[in-house]
Amino acid sequence: MPAAPTEAQLLHLLEAAAAVAQNAHAPYSGFRVGAALLLAHPHQDTVITGCNVENASFRLTTCAEQSAVAAAVARHGPHIRILAVAVANLNQAASQPCGACRQTLHEFALPETLVLYPGPSAQTEQQLLSELLPNSFSLTP
Ligand code: THU
Repeated sequence: MPAAPTEAQLLHLLEAAAAVAQNAHAPYSGFRVGAALLLAHPHQDTVITGCNVENASFRLTTCAEQSAVAAAVARHGPHIRILAVAVANLNQAASQPCGACRQTLHEFALPETLVLYPGPSAQTEQQLLSELLPNSFSLTP
């Protein structure tokens, strides 16, 4: 079982998520989101970030978590596993990962994958991905 992330790693992850949210392309919603992934062995200590990229054809928008997962796979290949993910936004709003993002994260998740996100009263909340997406869809290749 991979070592649980340290408090320092989680703080760094939250900072990285907030920093990358500055790069969001969100002219339609104005909701700027960042996500930062902490990868598991053999990429431990590696943080990969992504932000939301909206499109004039609204349904083509890519969420921050999806951008981060795509960047991580492009950088390190399809065997990556996510130890923790932090989500932040620049709108002082609660934002748990949407349903589609939960499924995207699940593809590369571990049983202990942690999700940190801004809760309704501005403080960071922390939950296992398996709690946010119970009975998730999987295919065994
Ligand atoms: N968004 C994310 O980036 N992640 C989520 O989990 C939920 C929503 C983005 C998509 C869109 O650009 C904006 O937030 C408003 O929905």
